[in-house]
Amino acid sequence: MARILTGIQSSGRPHLGNILGAIAPAIELSKDPKNESFFFIADLHSLTSLKDGGERRAFVRAIAATWLAFGFDYKKNVFWRQSRVQEHTELAWYLSCFTPFPMLANATSFKEKSEKLADVNAGLFTYPVLQAADILLYNANIIPVGKDQKQHLEMTKDIASRFNQLAGEDILVLPEPQIDERIMTIPGLDGQKMSKSYHNYIDIFLPENELKKVIKKIVSDSTPLEEPKDPDSDITFKLYSLIASPAEIETMRANYLNGGYGYGHAKQALLECMLEKFAEPRRIFNYYMENDPELESILVEGEEKARAIAQETIVKVRKVLGFSS
Ligand code: TYM
Repeated sequence: MARILTGIQSSGRPHLGNILGAIAPAIELSKDPKNESFFFIADLHSLTSLKDGGERRAFVRAIAATWLAFGFDYKKNVFWRQSRVQEHTELAWYLSCFTPFPMLANATSFKEKSEKLADVNAGLFTYPVLQAADILLYNANIIPVGKDQKQHLEMTKDIASRFNQLAGEDILVLPEPQIDERIMTIPGLDGQKMSKSYHNYIDIFLPENELKKVIKKIVSDSTPLEEPKDPDSDITFKLYSLIASPAEIETMRANYLNGGYGYGHAKQALLECMLEKFAEPRRIFNYYMENDPELESILVEGEEKARAIAQETIVKVRKVLGFSS
């Protein structure tokens, strides 16, 4: 039995990058009866960038609704908000004392974010330690994430090994990332990695007319309509390739190469493909967004299950560290 675990920050509504890079592959893994899945909303992590409580509440709801919209079976598995299980912050403190300062100072994601953001706070710096706690608290084996999280997973293993060395036994389980190299980093509207912080993302749950406006913003070159175009360097084609069927992709590729097919046509095809492939998730998402008490009770049920497991680990850790007998 493998334990799968992953989380999404509640710093915005989930976008296509989160969905294709993390949510959909994680749900696929969760369907294997041999696996037990732990999916959570990293609302504490979102505080590193988002300070507004009302916005956070709305984003938490949207993320929870997305997991359910893509078919996550919350009854068989475990589904919770990180902030409601206080063992996450407790373990993060213990682990921070096993984390060498240079490991955090050299983290690529911290360096990148601290160059871009005005608010470079201590939470942003210790972000990977809280992430390690999220994983190690539940003895997780496999962590499906996007490529940008690879270093955080290496740090998690390193921190766990340091703790186990002190304990003299393998109290914390070393996890493995699972990264779909085909998906890697989903491009955003401008071709950079799709990200909330780059404002280049596609929210697939927008009403059709708004989604259409967003898709129109995808950057393309200025090749005239009549001329052939290079599908492999075009962002619309890349996004279409991640969603459409192999036959549909081949048809679009031929259209690009033949000429007489404009980027406007490709964007319309991408919109139609999204509306078709995501019709059911869009329906379920809207259902949960309008049924707050139902969503809340699903999360509360998950939080009870998560807490019980987290407490087993924390009891062992406290004992090793001399905080309990
Ligand atoms: P977050 O919310 O930034 O990203 C959530 C997941 O989405 C993936 N992702 C992408 N994948 C492909 N292409 C993209 N453009 C793209 N953008 C985002 C991310 O790789 C990630 O898997 N630190 C985590 C949240 C977290 C976590 C954890 C994950 C907190 N604790 C424990 C796993 C285990 C994060 O980056 O969230």
